[in-house]
Formats: sequence, structure tokens, C-alpha cells
Amino acid sequence: MTDAASQSVFGGLSPHEPDGLLALIGACRADARPHKLDLGVGVYRDQHGRTPVFGAVKAAERHLLEMQDTKSYLGPQGDVGFLDALKPIIFGSRGTAGVFGAQTPGGTGALRLAADLLASGRPGARVFIGDPTWPNHPQIFQAAGLRLERYGCFDATTQTADFDATMAALETARPGDAVLLQACCHNPTGADPSLDQWATLARLIERRGLIPLIDLAYQGLGRGLEPDTAGMRRVLEAAPEALVAYSCDKNFGLYRERTGALFVLARDPLHLANAASNILALAGASWAMPPDHGAAVVRVILQDAALSAQWEAELETMRQRLAGMRKALASQATNLAALDGHHGMFVSLPLTPGQVARLRETHAIYCAPSGRINLAGLTPETLSNFTHAYEAVRQASSVGTNVHDR
Ligand SMILES: Cc1ncc(COP(=O)(O)O)c(C=O)c1O
Repeated sequence: MTDAASQSVFGGLSPHEPDGLLALIGACRADARPHKLDLGVGVYRDQHGRTPVFGAVKAAERHLLEMQDTKSYLGPQGDVGFLDALKPIIFGSRGTAGVFGAQTPGGTGALRLAADLLASGRPGARVFIGDPTWPNHPQIFQAAGLRLERYGCFDATTQTADFDATMAALETARPGDAVLLQACCHNPTGADPSLDQWATLARLIERRGLIPLIDLAYQGLGRGLEPDTAGMRRVLEAAPEALVAYSCDKNFGLYRERTGALFVLARDPLHLANAASNILALAGASWAMPPDHGAAVVRVILQDAALSAQWEAELETMRQRLAGMRKALASQATNLAALDGHHGMFVSLPLTPGQVARLRETHAIYCAPSGRINLAGLTPETLSNFTHAYEAVRQASSVGTNVHDR
């Protein structure tokens, strides 16, 4: 090795695989087959395949263009009006006593800030995350130096939530361990716990002294704005300390504006003040302050009754389209009836990586290697093509295939 090579900082880094989903988007774009279907990317699309800007967002942007009179700095907490406007939607009748919020760059920024806070409060702490879960979860927590533990949450054979596996794993958690829970529209399975199961989780969290970290990235896209928080509120009532990472990027369609918030809840006012000052210091050291535009748009919408009503109606249209596609898929494909009780954008199909490749190569259907599909990529017109292709790849390789080689 030359001197220059041995002194290189970058030469010592191990290369990372490029994001598989982004590569898939590129491959789909380059595919010339006219009937191709992109079920990979995790954004909402309407029946014309578009990811439109909400009418309420456009109206709020026009308002900001006219009325915003400064671009001066806001500080690490971001837009306090935005945070105050979100709180009733998230916490509802639970109220906002003992809650502190900070605006973040998307839900991802909120999760990273939460991870940094947990790592500062308890160096070497463990965080229990679902298996499966959103693929960014493990890397966010690992990057913050937390130790990962997994809890099973899905039975791919029956296509149902595996609550027994969740409980068995969490019974091994120690006081002070964190547990990440997706509040609704589970990514990638769509299988959320029932209200009774949330209540059981709440009791376990309280009994074992765990700190819940709730990831609320799809509020309004499951059962509706209020019902999507009902389960997580049970947990928040039971736990003396908790964190909620919120994203506005799906339910306001703001994706690239990177709009989110981290809320910390603590019964003890001194502990809350401690957490708040640490959150501000960590945010200051990471991004100084979050990007303004998306949060300003959300604030304008939520502070105006007519715009709020328009936003809720637009969100409800999205929710109903997703629920309709889910119902249709559940009724048309063999062995997928259980999907009907699930919620949100995603379905984890019982497909092996080989079957996923065959869907892509033979049928021009693109989905994540795990078998996750985004229902928003389907329309009533394309659904039967999809179910035929799905049945065909399943039948072609039914001999010698089992769900565990996924
Ligand atoms: C489960 C889950 N949490 C958090 C996020 C983060 O969302 P964003 O950073 O785009 O606001 C996503 C995005 O896909 C997600 O699926």
C-alpha cells in the first residue's frame, strides 16, 4: 500500500450498496413496455399515476407568497405555530400537557433526533424495532449508536400481524430500552395491532419500564385522522416518558419539502425541560434549523378552517382510493383475503426474490425485493393484469418454494 493510500480516510470506508428502491425506480423508468407497473416507490399516486400537489397546499403557498414578509432565521425549534397547530390532531383528547415539540426535516429527521436523544440519555441503549419494518429504521438507529433488537410482527404465511411474536420479544426488554412502534399503516405490511392489542402493549410497556418511540408517518391514510392515533394514545397514557416522530410528507403530500416534527412527552416537568433542551442542542448541532417552507404551509392550512376542511377532504379521497384498491386486491387474488383488515399504502406479498424478479422480467411489474407493493401504483384498470401476473409467478414456482427464502 502506498503512503497516500494508507493515509486516506476515505479509502478505509467500506462501500455501501446503493438504495435498492431508487435503482428500481430508475429501471422502471427505463423500461419501454407500455403496460409496465411501478409498485415500488412509496409515494401516493392517483388513478392517473400522478402524485399531485394538494389544492389546500397550493392555496397556502399562494397565501405565503403574498403575506410572508421575512426569511429571517427561526431557531432550532423551527415554526412554533406549526407545532401548536399539529398537536391537537396528534394528541386529541389526551391533551398537550407535558408535551414539547421541535420541527424536523421530515419524519426521518424526527426519528434521527429521537435516536440521538436516546443515545445521549442512555449510551449503549437498546431499541426494539419490528421485523419487518421500514428499511431505513435500522440504519437510522445504528447511525446514532443504539443497539438494535428485533421483534417479530408479521406472519407472511397467513398475511396477518403476529402479535404473539411481538409480545414474546418485548417480554425480554429491560427497563430503559426503547421500543419503536408504527402508529398506523404499517410499512411494509399494512398489518396494524388492534385496539385491544395496543392496550396490551401499553400495559407491557408500563410494566417493563420501556420508552415508546411512536413513528406516525401516515396519519389519515389508514382508518382516518382520529382513529389512526387511537392505539398509540393508549400507549402514551400508560408511559411516563415517550417520543412521537411525525411526518407531514405523506398526509400533506409534501415529500421533498421535508416536513416533520419530534414530540417528547414526560410526566415530570424537570425531565421534560431536560429533554427539550437536549433536543434543541442536538437539532442545532445537526441542521441548525429545519427547512421552513413545508411547515409554514401546514401551519397556514391548519390555522384556517376552510383550508383545513379542504385538506381533510383531499386526504380522505386518498384514503378511500387506497382502501378500495386493498379491498379489490383482497377479493381478487387467491390467499390474500386477510389484506382486507389491513390499512395504508403497503402490502407485503408472500413472494420470493425470484418471484419478484420474474414479475419484473416477464410482466414488467416492479416491486421491492421483499415483496412489498404500494397499492397506490394500482388502478381498477390495472388490477386484473396484476393479479394474473401475481398468480402466474406463484404457480410457476410453487414447487420447492417457501416463504422463508424471501
Ligand atoms: C414508516 C415510515 N416512517 C417514517 C418515514 C419518513 O418520512 P419522511 O422522512 O419522508 O417524512 C417513512 C417514509 O417513507 C416511513 O415509511
